[in-house]
Amino acid sequence: MFAMQHRLNTRQRNSVLKLRVATNCPDWNIRLGIIKACTEEIIADHEHGGGRSHWVILEELGIRIGLKRSVIQEARPLVSTQLCWLAWEALMSNRHWLEGMVANTCAERSNIPGYGKGIFRKHGWFGLERHRWGKLFGLSDDELEFFELHEEADIEHSNFGWNTIAEYAERLGVVDQVVQACHFNLYVWEQYLNGIAAAGDALDRGQQPSFA
Ligand SMILES: [Fe+2]
Ligand SMILES: [Fe+2]
Repeated sequence: MFAMQHRLNTRQRNSVLKLRVATNCPDWNIRLGIIKACTEEIIADHEHGGGRSHWVILEELGIRIGLKRSVIQEARPLVSTQLCWLAWEALMSNRHWLEGMVANTCAERSNIPGYGKGIFRKHGWFGLERHRWGKLFGLSDDELEFFELHEEADIEHSNFGWNTIAEYAERLGVVDQVVQACHFNLYVWEQYLNGIAAAGDALDRGQQPSFA
């Protein structure tokens, strides 16, 4: 469920939602920085992904754990995923571009080292997942590259977001707004991931999850 939904989510966020933030950003270099990060996610990542986009690498992970490529490609968004896209649309389209910048990068922040405890602190959230998926599915480090690449790519992506906010939020008078935006965006991420977990549990019980 994660492979199927997150593949769709990455495509939606990086081909639609984050580009709205780029559109709203008046600074040329920052706008290009946003688009560059999006191209790594949806077109080609030459720095960390051997020229493949992140959703393609995720598709390969899905196949390694036993999913059929056609099943992954035909997957529809869950209702919960669709609702999160609508929530993000509100948080990323008609907002100050710095609030959008928070929306673009706040979840990538949890993928980098330095927060929480244990493996999470050492390698970030995806580092923890790499470890758990490796154990659960018996996959090698190479086979878990989707997670590993994010430990690196997301340091860049999230630093770009964080540094931009540090530089501009005070000057533009939106300090409290960006903090509030971060809270809301993280709530949406929580809903999104809980939706995936609930749908996975439904499948385990032999029930059909609700698709949009
Ligand atoms: Fe990515
Ligand atoms: Fe990223």
